[in-house]
Amino acid sequence: MKYRLMAPGPTPIPEEVLTEMAKPIKHHRTPWFEGIVKDVQAGLKWLFQTQNDIIVLASSGSGAMEASIINVCQKDDRILVVNGGKFGERFGKIAKGHGISAELIDVEWGQAVDVNIIKEKLAQNDYRAVCVQASETSTGVGHPIQEIAKLTKDLPGTALIVDGITALGVIDLPVDKWGIDFLIGGSQKALMLPPGLACLSVSEKAWKLIEQSNTPKFYFNLQAERKAVHQNTTAWTPTVSLFVGLKKVLELMQAEGLQEMFTRHQQLADGIRKAALASELKLLAPDAPSNAVTAIYSPDGIDSGKIVKRLRDDFNMTIANGQDHLKGKIFRIGHLGYYDLFDMITVWSAVEKTLADLGHSLQLGQGVAAIMNQL
Ligand SMILES: Cc1ncc(COP(=O)(O)O)c(C=O)c1O
Repeated sequence: MKYRLMAPGPTPIPEEVLTEMAKPIKHHRTPWFEGIVKDVQAGLKWLFQTQNDIIVLASSGSGAMEASIINVCQKDDRILVVNGGKFGERFGKIAKGHGISAELIDVEWGQAVDVNIIKEKLAQNDYRAVCVQASETSTGVGHPIQEIAKLTKDLPGTALIVDGITALGVIDLPVDKWGIDFLIGGSQKALMLPPGLACLSVSEKAWKLIEQSNTPKFYFNLQAERKAVHQNTTAWTPTVSLFVGLKKVLELMQAEGLQEMFTRHQQLADGIRKAALASELKLLAPDAPSNAVTAIYSPDGIDSGKIVKRLRDDFNMTIANGQDHLKGKIFRIGHLGYYDLFDMITVWSAVEKTLADLGHSLQLGQGVAAIMNQL
């Protein structure tokens, strides 16, 4: 049976990108690679909607989360973290790992943060950064980035760090227009590449703070990376094949168009949400959904792990279970990156068949029809 990857990352890779990356490797300290860096830089600026320098790191997305915090902070700083899922929690853990004090705003999993709480906190205390997910992959929630950016934009000592790892290329996040100081992306998501590359845009305000930073750092030194970017290279050995793939990805994205890409993701997300509701299922995040991933409650009495396992064993498809206390309670379908509505129809037909086999009462095709109506 054909393998189908329907998780919220890693995601499928277009054939044109795979063939580019399969070409023999060349050396990175060459005019050839400098040309790639230059093209990738221009393409990323388009994707991030910014004039900022974009730093590309040889790491997974978490590396860029860590790099943002340790570069912008000073040793005694305090940061404010929106903690509404597995990845919000990670910002707090990174800070703790570096001895930086993090104040967490606990948000119920499935809900978006209340911006007024951030407003109150910022009025009471100085924070070096506010850290938040644009798309919290563990819950399928999109936090209100534009509203949060309005609060941090005019605070010269406070940077807004946005984890856009499953939002970049999915949700409209105009970096310069909104004043996002760090926006982080990861290769294995809507960037349609294998894992191993992270990218982040850094604002002029953030660079000023970075210049004052006195935390220990070496590999993730953003100033060293910025210097390298200005010479069309990277500070350390780059993920050459992923860079080559990224150049191709950016060409494909530009051919599709930014707004068209956001609209397509909206349609995919709408399709899956409507299919879930038509199949008598409940969404974890009905009020503030992210268009990258949809988290769906398993029917009463059915462990969601069984749905995930059946899809893997019977249909050779990967979807994701819930994490932590939602493990066994929800399942998550990724719809970010190289997908169209026919992919959604395919995954939902497998979900419906599985649910029916496991005893959930539904008529086969009722969710699939909801997606077909989106065509
Ligand atoms: C929102 C979000 N943040 C952070 C991460 C961590 O990224 P990585 O696994 O690439 O380190 C992920 C990964 O799924 C994610 O979805």
